[in-house]
Amino acid sequence: MYEILSKFAQTWGLGFFVLMFAVAVAYALWPSNKENSKQRPIGRSMKGNLEMSETDKEVDVLSGVETTGHSWDGIKELNNPLPRWWLYVWYGTIFWAILYMIAMPALPSLPGLGSRNTPGVLGMSDRSAVAESVATLHAERSAASAELLTASLQDIQNNLDLQQFAMAMGESAFGDNCATCHGAGGRGAKGYPMLADDVWLWDGTLDGIEQTIRHGIRHEEDVDTRFSAMPAFGRDGLLTSVQIDDLVQYVLSVSGHEANAGMAARGEGLFQSNCASCHGMDAKGSRDVGAPNLTDADWLYGSSPDDIRATITNARNSHMPAWQGRLDDATIKALAVYVHSLGGGE
Ligand code: HEC
Ligand code: HEC
Repeated sequence: MYEILSKFAQTWGLGFFVLMFAVAVAYALWPSNKENSKQRPIGRSMKGNLEMSETDKEVDVLSGVETTGHSWDGIKELNNPLPRWWLYVWYGTIFWAILYMIAMPALPSLPGLGSRNTPGVLGMSDRSAVAESVATLHAERSAASAELLTASLQDIQNNLDLQQFAMAMGESAFGDNCATCHGAGGRGAKGYPMLADDVWLWDGTLDGIEQTIRHGIRHEEDVDTRFSAMPAFGRDGLLTSVQIDDLVQYVLSVSGHEANAGMAARGEGLFQSNCASCHGMDAKGSRDVGAPNLTDADWLYGSSPDDIRATITNARNSHMPAWQGRLDDATIKALAVYVHSLGGGE
């Protein structure tokens, strides 16, 4: 019974009220309901503007309306009845208010209720309504999430519905967990790689991206994390500051910047013996160790001589957290699909 009432209140309640209002107005305005005024003056004995009616009531001569008997300095109040349609609507609202008060949460601070209010016989509350719709959402999602879990990343790419679901889920998870470092839409920032381009430090395939997200980069608590450590050549005294200056000029020259040719030439030798193992003989980088290409226009830590000197002196070796265990598998897959789609997926 409560359920029926509750359903009714939520769906037809307003309609019902509007209908009641319309019926009341129609009834009041229906011609056959318009009775002639009972308060018509009958007597003729003049008393100023007022006459006495047969029933001994005072009646105003000009308007022919009975008075209430109240008088202020000789000014009397006419006893005009309220329009009937108005009255019925008013009664209707009172009736409605009482029903509503019984059905819905209403009276606060009654004895025994503490700071709560009366719950109402329908037991409705916004809080439980929210809890219910969240539960419904989870139930709806869990079907699609379950599908995500079993599908391979490639299957997800090939199934339009599943892909759309993964993209939506990935986008929102990215906003919650990744955008703080990688920027909205993965546009990146100094020290945090842009994910929306086709330049990859590690691996730009779907599986590679999933691996990065799952295990992180230099996240030492995870044995499968991606790992490499550029030495801090200056700080740890592996190279002198003169050698580092030469290397800076060399890096500038291979990336198409203006550079001192003599210093760069000396730097090239140093590069081959100290840096090529990670960045490659041609300085084009290596994804096996996450070493960036130094010949392109894309810089993680900046391309000014000072930025480059700082990188070689102290090394950066930044940290990307592992998300396995923090995010569920379906979310990680969705994130991989989302990041892959941002622009540079391979
Ligand atoms: C605390 C900051 C931080 C957060 C949060 C973070 N990342 Fe990263 N992420 C990094 C850094 C720093 C790197 C680059 C590490 C390096 O030097 O190799 C990186 C690298 C990556 C890469 C590899 C890029 C490439 O070129 O190979 C991917 C993919 C990635 N992040 C995705 C994500 C996703 C998805 C999330 C959210 C679940 C996330 N990151 C959250 C800091 C963060
Ligand atoms: C053990 C591998 C390794 C060696 C050796 C190494 N690097 Fe790196 N280098 C990296 C990695 C990995 C990164 C980027 C990730 C990070 O540090 O956050 C990097 C980043 C850089 C960057 C920053 C690029 C950017 O986009 O901002 C420069 C410049 C650089 N290295 C120059 C050098 C020079 C010069 C040497 C030799 C003196 C050298 N590296 C030796 C692994 C190495």
